[in-house]
Amino acid sequence: MVVSAELVCSTYEWRGRTGPLTLVLPAGVFTPTHTTLVMADILEINPDDVVLDVGCGSGVIGFVAARLGAARIIGCDVSSAAVDTAGENARRLGLSDCTEYHLGHLFGPVPDVEADVVIGDVSGIPDAIAELTPWASGGPTGAELPIEMLETLGERLKIGGRLYLPTGTMQAEERVVKVARSIFGNDNLDPLAVREFPLPTTVARSPAVQRLVDEGILDMRRRGTRLVWRLTVWRCTRPGR
Ligand SMILES: C[S@@+](CC[C@H](N)C(=O)[O-])C[C@H]1O[C@@H](n2cnc3c(N)ncnc32)[C@H](O)[C@@H]1O
Repeated sequence: MVVSAELVCSTYEWRGRTGPLTLVLPAGVFTPTHTTLVMADILEINPDDVVLDVGCGSGVIGFVAARLGAARIIGCDVSSAAVDTAGENARRLGLSDCTEYHLGHLFGPVPDVEADVVIGDVSGIPDAIAELTPWASGGPTGAELPIEMLETLGERLKIGGRLYLPTGTMQAEERVVKVARSIFGNDNLDPLAVREFPLPTTVARSPAVQRLVDEGILDMRRRGTRLVWRLTVWRCTRPGR
């Protein structure tokens, strides 16, 4: 049987900041999560900001930025389904004029962009957890891809510009934060939001997760019968020379 793309393409109602927004969300494109909601809540946008959304998924955080007054949104994703979906969502929301989407690894597709704001929400969970969830992997400890993102950011963020970076105890968080501190300097990292969420039961019960906890890579807290993980969203401001 041939199933048309239309049939497998569902919609998603965004009720976070600047919502409601109806998004198309085909299977395989990242469904917004708690992290997406918190990222959107803490985002600071000035009029005329150029925003680079790396790991844009459905495009939702960029749409929030556009609704908050950003002048231009440039999204990138390694998933062609995400890039197509973000473009289609922008069209449906009447945001095609101020948005563009590119396919590729991290900043590879946008070598000339210099943004005021970078939304750095690439996949950051360990391979072993990614296998149990719909989320994409960020490397063996979940720190590898975010660290590569930090190390290749360079001139893509203007001096004085802001990177919004989520980290969590569901990855080797300290490794990511250490690299961020070395690039931006201690004084330029501000934890704008810290939240705790219960770990999905399938993840909490997984031997692979237990192994990562035992190895000290993941740092979960027990609350009653549940394991909880902690999300921190950082504002990293690029210092002058
Ligand atoms: C955690 S999701 C966030 C999506 C979106 N920001 C949201 O909150 O709904 C991470 C996104 O990063 C993308 N991604 C994974 N590896 C990537 C890479 N190497 N380069 C660019 N994007 C990547 C995934 O396809 C996914 O859409």
